[in-house]
Amino acid sequence: MRVIITGAASGIGQAVAQRLQEGDVIRGDHRMLLVDRDTDGLARVADMIGPAAAILKADVTDEADSAIIAAAALDHMGGIDGVVSNAGAIAAGTLMQMTPADYDRLFAVNTRATWLLARATYPYLRESRGALVATASMAATQPTPPLGAYAPAKAALRMLIRQLSVDWGPDGIRCNCVSPGPTLTGMTAAGYADPARRAEREAAMPLRKLGTPADVANAILFLLSPLAGHITGIDLLVDGGLSNCLMIANGGGAGHAPAAS
Ligand SMILES: NC(=O)c1ccc[n+]([C@@H]2O[C@H](COP(=O)([O-])OP(=O)(O)OC[C@H]3O[C@@H](n4cnc5c(N)ncnc54)[C@H](O)[C@@H]3O)[C@@H](O)[C@H]2O)c1
Repeated sequence: MRVIITGAASGIGQAVAQRLQEGDVIRGDHRMLLVDRDTDGLARVADMIGPAAAILKADVTDEADSAIIAAAALDHMGGIDGVVSNAGAIAAGTLMQMTPADYDRLFAVNTRATWLLARATYPYLRESRGALVATASMAATQPTPPLGAYAPAKAALRMLIRQLSVDWGPDGIRCNCVSPGPTLTGMTAAGYADPARRAEREAAMPLRKLGTPADVANAILFLLSPLAGHITGIDLLVDGGLSNCLMIANGGGAGHAPAAS
């Protein structure tokens, strides 16, 4: 399978690259284009994967870069079977504390970037009858007070994916998203550095543990794979069951533990 992975320099994106390379979820020989704006992280992940991976420094919010990503994928892989639109970002602060620029930035990376990449890769996904998977968040369905516009941006991403699934269904292209709950990655590490806070969060989760990047990557690869060949337009929660008991155990708030600042 020939796959573009954004946000591949760390966390969930890195795990998608590693799990794809390991071949447990999708068997076969895979090639991948790893995209991120963090060049050091990209080089580190590419070293782990070997020659199957090419890397590209790009900003997924930039329209010109979306065309560059598609061109680089064709160059390295000769076509595109899968797109994992996973790059994302959070910002602490309530909606009233945010500036319009903060708001636009969060929508640019968490929503619009997936649309830009979808536009740029559409002809190649149509050719391969491929699949696109985006990383949304449990915050797409659960208001998350400390994270201002992040939850609305992920909610919009969820609908973008449903809309794309209907637009692209007749072309045989499947579009889905996964919604992680609390997952230990670079995005959340500072928030979970305090053992008491981490223990409190884990105690609130039915499975009594945070998610790992591999947990989320396995769900993404399932949705990319032929095993999900009749599944399109869904949002697959990977939250350890947390969304079923937020009102009881968590006092509101989903998905992330941002640093206090
Ligand atoms: N960790 C969690 O608890 C959690 C929960 C729900 C959803 N998510 C989502 O999972 C996805 C992956 O996040 P993660 O937890 O692995 O965090 P992470 O910080 O480890 O990875 C995010 C990656 O995206 C890259 N990135 C950010 N903005 C970019 C841009 N404009 N252009 C190119 N690359 C950019 C970063 O450099 C980073 O490598 C995100 O979409 C995030 O919103 C994470």
